[in-house]
Amino acid sequence: MKLIIDTDPGIDDAMAIAYAAAAPEIDLIGLTTVFGNTHVHQSSRNARFLVDKLGLDIPVAQGASAAHGKDDHSPSEHVHGPEGFGDLTDIPEIGQNHDLTAAEFLVEMAREHAGELVVCAVGPLTNIADAMALDPAFSKNLGRLVIMGGAVYCPGNITPHAEANIYHDAHAADAVFTAPPETVLVGLDVTLKTLYQNADFEALAQKSADMGVFLRDISKFYLQFYKEIGGLDGCGLHDSTAVIACTHDHMFDLVQTGVQVITEGDALGATIPQDGRPPVTVCRDVDGAGVVDLFTARVASLP
Ligand code: BDR
Ligand code: CA
Repeated sequence: MKLIIDTDPGIDDAMAIAYAAAAPEIDLIGLTTVFGNTHVHQSSRNARFLVDKLGLDIPVAQGASAAHGKDDHSPSEHVHGPEGFGDLTDIPEIGQNHDLTAAEFLVEMAREHAGELVVCAVGPLTNIADAMALDPAFSKNLGRLVIMGGAVYCPGNITPHAEANIYHDAHAADAVFTAPPETVLVGLDVTLKTLYQNADFEALAQKSADMGVFLRDISKFYLQFYKEIGGLDGCGLHDSTAVIACTHDHMFDLVQTGVQVITEGDALGATIPQDGRPPVTVCRDVDGAGVVDLFTARVASLP
């Protein structure tokens, strides 16, 4: 399956990219970057660093630096660290971004691999909305859009109402759900049922001396955040769960519903089931232990 990950790496993004690189049924053909956990130039630098570390030869196309209608963005430094990789701050600039913007690259690739390409969006949905606006045929050309975002049947994480990716560009998200391509929504409803604990990271580091050790090391900061703020002994495999949903839908309990995103007020970024809208597939429940085991088995196979 041909896959592009639209991403803001980001600790759990790094895990998802590692998973995609290791999964035999995934042909990862590029990364597109967006603001979110970090500023977009940091997302792109981190993405290129990961591509190099994983020994991949794929492009990184840089996308939006802020939400629609905004000039700037405040990164989630308290969650992902000052540079996006926890306590690791000395991250080299390796290679260069693709000449096309993220939206242009997504449009091109959807055209080239019409009906086949899956895009897994694990950051704010700005680039996806931009690609939809850039090419009216983009949605039709896409095989499927799989989104890590939202909290349809459960509370949010960035506010009591909203999940972070949707909250960071609620207008873009609402535009996507107004006329969605074939879409699967992988929200906190399921990703908080895939807790990855300290012992899981240690086991991974034992098996994978380079990538496993890297992920264990950058995740210490993330685990600390989860413990102090969320009272949770482990972090959600948010973005990896979305990548796993691209190929393993049998691990999820799926429902069809339209989704509306609240674009103002206290509930900004809330994802509300809405019958009047075109249906998307919402993941309502998951085999969380199965996702954790699959993640470990695949990523442990990396050097
Ligand atoms: C999402 O927000 C980001 O912090 C994570 O990378 C993930 O994509 C979880 O709400
Ligand atoms: Ca992310």
